[in-house]
Amino acid sequence: MAERVEIFEVGPRDGLQNEARLIPVAEKIALVDALSRVGFRRIEVTSFVSPKWVPQMADAGAVMAGITRKPGISYATLAPNLKGFDAAVAARADEVAIFGAASEAFSQANINASIAESLARFAPVVAAAQAIGMPVRGYVSCVIACPYEGVIAPEAVARMAADLLAMGCYEISLGDTIGAGRPQTVARMLAAVSALVPVDRLAGHFHDTGGRALANIDAALDHGLRVFDAAVGGLGGCPYAPGAPGNVATEDVARHLAARGFETGLDLDALDRAVAMAGGMRDGNA
Ligand code: HMG
Ligand code: MG
Repeated sequence: MAERVEIFEVGPRDGLQNEARLIPVAEKIALVDALSRVGFRRIEVTSFVSPKWVPQMADAGAVMAGITRKPGISYATLAPNLKGFDAAVAARADEVAIFGAASEAFSQANINASIAESLARFAPVVAAAQAIGMPVRGYVSCVIACPYEGVIAPEAVARMAADLLAMGCYEISLGDTIGAGRPQTVARMLAAVSALVPVDRLAGHFHDTGGRALANIDAALDHGLRVFDAAVGGLGGCPYAPGAPGNVATEDVARHLAARGFETGLDLDALDRAVAMAGGMRDGNA
C-alpha cells in the first residue's frame, strides 16, 4: 500500500489573510465548505487575531459559525493570545495554533513581541487548551530566512521548535515564510531541528516565492516529514514580494505527491472545484 502523506489545508487562513479586498463572509464559508468535500483531515479556517493587524480576519467568528462541519475534519484557527483563544473556543474551533518565529525582527513585526515574550504569551494559551483537551499546533516562521534579518541559523529554528514542543504543541509547522529555501538549506535546517524534535511531530510549510517549494518538499520528504501545509489555488501571495506566488498550491502538492507514489486521500476533482473557487477570490478576480 502506498505511504500516506497528509496535506494540511491552510488556504482560507494563510491564503486569504493576504488578499487586500475584503472578501464577503459567504464566499469564505463557501470555500471552506468546498474544501470539506476534498478529503482533508485538517483545515485552517481563520484566525482570531487583532482586526487592526489583519482586517481580513475580522469576521473569524462569522466564518466559523457559517461553515458546515463534516465529521472527522478538524477545523483549526490561529490564536496568538488568550483573547484569541477564548474567541476560538466560543467559535467551536477543534484546535488552535500559536505562531512564533525563529527571527526576532519578524516576531516583533508580526505579533509585536520578542521571541521570549511570545513564548510567555503562548504558555497560558497552551495551558488553557490542555485544560479542555483541545490540541494546539505550533508554527515557527522564517525557518530559512527573514525579510528583515536575512539568513536564519538552523539552531535558532531548532530552539524555537523545541520550546513549542516542550510547551505542549502536538505538531510544529516549519514555515519558509518568504520562500527562500533551497533543498540544501532545507536539509540543513531539518537536520538541526530533528536533533531536538522527532520528525513525526514536524510539518513543512513552504512558500513558492522562489519557485522551489516542490523541490523543498522533496528534501523534507527525504528527511522523513509526512505532513505539509498548502493553500488551495496557491492563495496568499507574499506581502514582501508583490506579484510572486505565496503558499505552495495544494493541487500542485497533491499531484506531485501522487506522482511520487504517495497517497494523500484527496479527491482531485473536488479539489479542482475548490481551486476554481479560490481563483475567483484573488485580488482583481472578484
Ligand atoms: P498588540 O497590539 O501587542 O496587542 O498585538 P495588545 O494585547 O496590546 O492589544 C491591542 C488591541 O488589540 C486591544 O484592542 C486588544 O483587545 C486587541 P483595543 O483595546 O486597542 O481596542 N487584541 C485582539 N483583538 C482580537 N483578537 C485578539 C486580540 N488580541 C489583542 N486575539 C497581537 C498583538 C498578537 C494581537 C497582534 O500583533 C496580532 O493580532 N498579530 C497577528 C498577526 C497575524 O495574524 N499575522 C499573520 C499570521 S502568521 C503567518 O501568516 C505565518 C504563518 O502562516 C507561517 C508562515 O507562513 O511562515 C503562521
Ligand atoms: Mg504561509
